[in-house]
Amino acid sequence: MNKLSIRDLELRGKRVFIRVDFNVPMAGDKVEDDTRIRETLPTLRYAIDQRARLVLASHLGRPKGKIDPKYTLSPVANRLRELLDQPVAFASDCVGADAEAKSKSLGDGELLLLENVRFHPQEEANDPEFSRQLAQLCDGLFVCDAFGSSHRAHASVVGITKFVRQAAAGLLMEKELAYLGKAISNPDRPFVAILGGAKVSDKIEVVQNLMKLADTLLIGGAMAYTFLKSQGLPIGKSLVENDKLDLARGLLEDARRRHFRFLLPVDHVVAESPNSAETSIVDIAKTPENLMGLDIGPQTIAVFNEQVTGARTIVWNGPLGIFEKPAFAQGTLAMARAVAAASVAGATSIVGGGDSVAAIEQSGVASKISHISTGGGASLEFLAGENLPGVEALTNKSGSQKDF
Ligand code: 3PG
Repeated sequence: MNKLSIRDLELRGKRVFIRVDFNVPMAGDKVEDDTRIRETLPTLRYAIDQRARLVLASHLGRPKGKIDPKYTLSPVANRLRELLDQPVAFASDCVGADAEAKSKSLGDGELLLLENVRFHPQEEANDPEFSRQLAQLCDGLFVCDAFGSSHRAHASVVGITKFVRQAAAGLLMEKELAYLGKAISNPDRPFVAILGGAKVSDKIEVVQNLMKLADTLLIGGAMAYTFLKSQGLPIGKSLVENDKLDLARGLLEDARRRHFRFLLPVDHVVAESPNSAETSIVDIAKTPENLMGLDIGPQTIAVFNEQVTGARTIVWNGPLGIFEKPAFAQGTLAMARAVAAASVAGATSIVGGGDSVAAIEQSGVASKISHISTGGGASLEFLAGENLPGVEALTNKSGSQKDF
């Protein structure tokens, strides 16, 4: 990567603005899943060890530019205190007098967490004046460790970089870019990509790009039905995006022309609805009109497993069925186990997207996966071959000083 790293910065005694992605699932006023917080600890500990003065900023949820107590980062500050086992000051607004005073009173190795940056509409508008106010809380040093937010050209991710001397990647950001970057630029082969989830429309660009980069694409989840229907197969009441049938047909024709291995389910678990107790397994070609597909079936699991078993690089985003319901979880959990086994056998595996990560956790194989990405949308955009504005905005290694 030709961008500055936090390791390139002189941090001692300096206030450094660190953009993190603490957009974590909450249960009331408690952090339900602290993965994203824990993943930033190496960066935070590094900056603390370097005796920097840390000013942390994040968004939480989508409060639409208004103060909404439901989205306060205060519980996150509590969790961070526990994880770091040291005090973390909290500023009830991310800009203004209180934040400035608190940032100035930080001692070496101390931390301040700012309130949700999305309480201000200027954050998502990437407003220059707001960006300048954020930058005022540091001594010209910005670190972006928010890989999960790096596809958002927002003030605390992109705008602020114009008002600091050096903008560097944090350790989590570097790790994410190293894993995902290798997969799309120089993967060990065979490279197998697994895509699932509800909508084709969310993943069109990813499918197109992975068809250029990977050796095999395995598609499950509801998005498979748009592809299957485009081939004239019966899909019963399964979810489908009728306005994407032509596109799906075009992608499959392209795959055929290029002899690209594009595999769709051959059988599935069907039921009247996701809440039905009664389920059956049928070949796709025999899908009854009144039933919907809610998980891949055993033959599909076997075919997908075979592909994954021989892979050297595996990228997975999106569940292959409604895995939150035990009756429709087998496909996704089997895939999690297969990806883990392939990783143990030497493959590099990268799993991204909240649901597939949850499935990996649920199957108890998380520790075997090479890299669990903290980015949902960001990892998809990266895999689609798009530039991430939050990465682009960082200072290049050459010419690493800016006037400000
Ligand atoms: C995420 O959870 O994917 C990131 O934190 C970005 O959140 P957003 O989709 O609300 O911008």
